[in-house]
Amino acid sequence: MQHIHYKNNELYCENVAVKKIAERFGTPVYIYSQQAFIDRYKELKNAFTKITPLICYSVKACSNVAILRLLVKQGAGLDIVSGGELFRAARAKCPMARVVFAGVGKTPDEVSAAIRHKILFFNVESEPELARINAVARSLRRTVNIALRLNPDVESHTHHYITTAKKENKFGIDFASARRIFARQGKYPNVRIKGIHLHVGSQLTRVSPFVNALKKTMAFIDSLGTLCSIDTINIGGGVGIVYDQERTLSLKEYAAGIERIIVPRGYDLILEPGRFIAGNSGIFVTEVQYVKKTTGKRFLIVDGAMNDLVRPTLYQAYHEIVPVTKRRGRKALVYDIVGPICESGDFFAKKRKVQEMHPDELLALKSAGAYGFSMSSNYNSRGRAAEVLVSGTRAHPIRSREEYATLLKGEILPTHLK
Ligand code: LLP
Repeated sequence: MQHIHYKNNELYCENVAVKKIAERFGTPVYIYSQQAFIDRYKELKNAFTKITPLICYSVKACSNVAILRLLVKQGAGLDIVSGGELFRAARAKCPMARVVFAGVGKTPDEVSAAIRHKILFFNVESEPELARINAVARSLRRTVNIALRLNPDVESHTHHYITTAKKENKFGIDFASARRIFARQGKYPNVRIKGIHLHVGSQLTRVSPFVNALKKTMAFIDSLGTLCSIDTINIGGGVGIVYDQERTLSLKEYAAGIERIIVPRGYDLILEPGRFIAGNSGIFVTEVQYVKKTTGKRFLIVDGAMNDLVRPTLYQAYHEIVPVTKRRGRKALVYDIVGPICESGDFFAKKRKVQEMHPDELLALKSAGAYGFSMSSNYNSRGRAAEVLVSGTRAHPIRSREEYATLLKGEILPTHLK
């Protein structure tokens, strides 16, 4: 996280003091480093030396249209999972020939919109979905390219909520069913099965699950013989990042492992990274409201909450928490760091040692760029946080804090209650 660093005991994002951003835009606030996004994108791209992958950034990780536009300008495509994300992709002016559409439940409207936009691939998760895409394409007099998402049933060694390629998961198509689909692809003349899609899980810290999934998949493709004429492999996302002290995978080994399998076969390669690009490119900044002491416990009650960043309570996820201003002479104390929401699950950390903090002082939660803002909600009628993108010495607001009026937008008071 070299773009998020201390200078004279003050936390900075690039060349702007986080404290100044909090003063200007208020708290809680998400702050992103533009250069960090660009660096991660390039780092991943450059790890591949024998093939140029199409990197379709996974919109769900951090969906702000400014972030999407930034990556699209670097040459990225986008991995979308809903009509809403398709709308964002269009707003970000992403060439639709760089958009892939995954997800188990695409509706007819979503399928139709994506066909009209001429996206690159539908990543198809079941035969009924294939039939639906075929029917919609026929009604639009079009033929579309699809990639079958296989479920290779491999162990991914990650949190059970975010593993996706075990046979008990809802994702993808098992090999036996995929074989039947290939055998009767003639039934679906408006789709062309041009690719295979895999997504093994998220926050993977080893290369082996990717390689194992690919190896199993290649053996399966070979067993299909002439039934299968694909030209693209999409390996999905999943590359892990460092949240704490954990070891993560080497990008070089990841890329080499994939290239060893893909390159001799001449396939095109698509990647769908989300967390790797966004995770350590953003922080979440919150202000201490109260210090509350109970028997045997000390709570820091902050103005951010589980509606802003749900990962700690949802996945027991660890986010490093640091003071925005390090103060000399302050000792470290053990706190439960909690928000104001009326749920015991509203916490960011339990029994966490941080510098002694007082009301009005700021804390930063690190590694909050991915699945932070994008998973936020309005629970407890809390407006969503502001988002700020820092580029060099400038802090650009990319989303204003939600106002009360926005909370009621779309709500209707029937006449008899007026
Ligand atoms: N492609 C597909 C088909 C996916 O389902 C996902 C993530 C990605 C790509 C991007 O994966 P990544 O590179 O970010 O690992 N909310 C959870 C993570 C859920 C991931 C869902 N799918 C979290 O906060 O840890």
